[in-house]
Amino acid sequence: MIQIHLLLLWMSRISVYAQSSNYPDCQSGPLAQFPICDQSLPSRLRAADIVSQMTTAEKITQMATTAAAIPRLGIPKYQWWSEALHGVAYAPGVTFDGDLPAATSFAAPINLGASFNTRLIYRVANAISTEARAFNNEGQAGLTFFTPNINIFRDPRWGRGQETPGEDPFLTSQYVYALINGLQRGEDDRYLKMAANCKHFDAYDLDQWNGTDRFHFNALVSNQDLVETYLPPFETCIRDVRVASIMCSFNAINGVPACANKFLIDTIARKSFYFDGFVISDCGGIDTIMYDHNFTSTVEDTVAAALLAGTDLDCGTFYQRYAQQALDNKTIVESDIDRALERTYNALIRLGWFDPPEQQFYRHLNKNHVNTVKTQQLALDSAQESIVLLKNVNNALPLNINELKNKKIALIGPTANATILMQSNYYGRAPYLIDPVLGFKSITAGTSIDIEFAYGCAISGTDESDFTAAIELASVADVVIFFGGLDQSIEAEGCDRSSIALPRIQYDLLKRIEDVVQSPIHVVIMSGSGIDLTFVRDSSLYGSLIWMGYPGQAGGLAIANAIFGEYNPAGRLPITFYPASYVDEVSMTDMQMRPSATNPGRTYKFYTGKAVYDFGTGLSYTTFVYSWNDQLTSFSYSIDLLMKDNYDEKHVLTVLLQVNVTNTGAVAGDDVVLAYILPPQLKRNGQTPPIKQLFGFKRIHLNVNETGQVFFPLEISAILTVAHDGSKWLHPGIYHILIGQTLMRSIELQGKSARWS
Ligand SMILES: *[C@@H]1O[C@H](CO)[C@@H](O)[C@H](O)[C@H]1NC(C)=O
Ligand SMILES: *[C@@H]1O[C@H](CO)[C@@H](O)[C@H](O)[C@H]1NC(C)=O
Ligand SMILES: *[C@@H]1O[C@H](CO)[C@@H](O)[C@H](O)[C@H]1NC(C)=O
Ligand SMILES: *[C@@H]1O[C@H](CO)[C@@H](O)[C@H](O)[C@H]1NC(C)=O
Ligand SMILES: *[C@@H]1O[C@H](CO)[C@@H](O)[C@H](O)[C@H]1NC(C)=O
Ligand SMILES: *[C@@H]1O[C@H](CO)[C@@H](O)[C@H](O)[C@H]1NC(C)=O
Repeated sequence: MIQIHLLLLWMSRISVYAQSSNYPDCQSGPLAQFPICDQSLPSRLRAADIVSQMTTAEKITQMATTAAAIPRLGIPKYQWWSEALHGVAYAPGVTFDGDLPAATSFAAPINLGASFNTRLIYRVANAISTEARAFNNEGQAGLTFFTPNINIFRDPRWGRGQETPGEDPFLTSQYVYALINGLQRGEDDRYLKMAANCKHFDAYDLDQWNGTDRFHFNALVSNQDLVETYLPPFETCIRDVRVASIMCSFNAINGVPACANKFLIDTIARKSFYFDGFVISDCGGIDTIMYDHNFTSTVEDTVAAALLAGTDLDCGTFYQRYAQQALDNKTIVESDIDRALERTYNALIRLGWFDPPEQQFYRHLNKNHVNTVKTQQLALDSAQESIVLLKNVNNALPLNINELKNKKIALIGPTANATILMQSNYYGRAPYLIDPVLGFKSITAGTSIDIEFAYGCAISGTDESDFTAAIELASVADVVIFFGGLDQSIEAEGCDRSSIALPRIQYDLLKRIEDVVQSPIHVVIMSGSGIDLTFVRDSSLYGSLIWMGYPGQAGGLAIANAIFGEYNPAGRLPITFYPASYVDEVSMTDMQMRPSATNPGRTYKFYTGKAVYDFGTGLSYTTFVYSWNDQLTSFSYSIDLLMKDNYDEKHVLTVLLQVNVTNTGAVAGDDVVLAYILPPQLKRNGQTPPIKQLFGFKRIHLNVNETGQVFFPLEISAILTVAHDGSKWLHPGIYHILIGQTLMRSIELQGKSARWS
């Protein structure tokens, strides 16, 4: 809904808006009299009209992300490829200069996962789309953004896990719902605010590992894992929140390259999830069908394989180079091209590309809407809310600023002065980057506390030349805080890890620091994935441990606030922290979630070993007590009756799960309440059930002694069992509901097993 006061505000400021050459001119251009410019028509008809006016050669120029202008029709060139993963980011379609030299850099998606706060995710997404529109209005970005990445963070080695909200399909689905709403919908419901893109469809979560790369990888995925793990975030993205586009991935799935995979794109996305947007190939993805997967042997067949599967737009040049040949060879016909272009143009129409700017709220967003006081605070919120306190012995934290008069605090390690490192990947130019050293100095400004920094060592490598200065500083400091972790040289796009231990040089430095410190060491880790920190967890030489993902532009201030108790941490791990030996127990190419002789199981749902830190772990400076807000203890349902009510998978069982949460500690803070279902631990047809599975979470703020209530609707989907063939079942037995780690209640399903879908 357009907000009236905003509408009046900008209408009053309009003088004459020059028609920028970045947009087609529907008022006086060559198209003005045609249906494409008739706003009263449905967008699909307008799209069909514009496509029908193009010659075949012109159409082919429009099949790629770098689409040429068609001057005859007054259509400007358009670059489809812009990025905005956690802020407007570098991409072929994005520039940082002039009026818009920078965009707000929010915490990475893995952090948004750790916040377990869908409201925060929505607010961040809404701020990103506002900035994106301002960039577009200045000619510094497109309207179509290749974000978000919603693949499941299946294996801790994955270099791109940092781009996702973590390992859990439910959490990822909640993330994508809030995110796409914030990106695509806003103040004016007549237009898409931006076109987002859910990627990579599907089963993409291996980049480069032990000789296998994403371009050649054939992911062997059972129907069970597809239905239970790899598809749900896409189902939410497509069916529930109606994303404008999806991207097919580089890898093959069960022998068929994703961009030629008619089963996935057509049968699943379009027919089962009612996808009505456009499909874009990952960049160079069409080439990989032929040159890497050897799925086709001629360029004509390759064009046909991708286009007929439903890949509408080529991030690359394959279609531009070979579509005419494919037409000549009759592997495709012209209407196949038309169908694809009608889908892509439909998105531009829904974005208001053809419509007069005066009537469009989004066309009036400008530099005053970028890097505002509000987005600066939101960037700080995103960094703070994702801080996960993993260890805090004897309340080692927070540090009390008043008790540290004339004391020396040593910040030691390679992420203590991290700047761009805090921006993870797919980042843009930030207005500023507050590193931890600056954060600590600003928080202690005006006190007699002495903040000293020693680098100690790089993230990895063998250069120990900075060890001495760091060890000397540690020996004279009253408080030592080690800042370690990873960066894009260790985990990145095109780079999976082979080890999940702390890089050796950081470990060696810590061992030397252990020998000289006067008080237990505090450890802060920046990384997008889990690290085996057992030695920190178990040693009394360490007082506290914090994981803070990649926190974005305000990371240093966020961590200083948390360490001094200005902010009470409440983030939770969105991933399992496995022991280092995990990498020897399972191949990264093994897509199976359930344990087997060569796989200890993946994620908190199936991992049979002992995690270093579990999914959902996270401490606070205060304590919370949970209780049911009713006297009931158990429930039972008849499967027969549930089946009769079988009209909607989202059907909510009448059980109302109300939990009272009380802050019983000494300081205010947020709590993340996690609700799990524990299915009967019974193998059916050899299939191991999940150990537990998240079905709800809520983040609430509570003052001291305050009690808040949280409600968890229990949907049928939470108690369905997915069989090996992908079918969903209601099985009898006792299902436990677990709130946090202790509060439990059971429900019983009675009767005979029944197939749900
Ligand atoms: C694909 O074909 C190329 C030669 O055209 C060959 O070198 C390569 O090994 C083949 N790859 C696969 C996976 O068969
Ligand atoms: C298409 O090309 C193949 C060789 O690449 C050729 O055998 C075939 O006859 C061609 N078909 C048409 C209709 O041109
Ligand atoms: C951090 O400090 C080290 C040592 O002074 C220096 O080499 C490195 O460039 C600094 N990093 C950043 C991001 O400024
Ligand atoms: C890596 O690949 C080699 C050869 O392809 C294989 O022998 C080895 O077992 C693989 N390593 C792991 C950890 O799977
Ligand atoms: C739960 O909290 C509500 C509101 O604070 C209160 O009215 C209710 O009595 C509480 N229930 C229990 C069981 O403590
Ligand atoms: C919280 O409750 C305790 C016990 O009833 C009481 O002693 C304390 O003063 C209360 N604290 C606040 C801040 O209300």
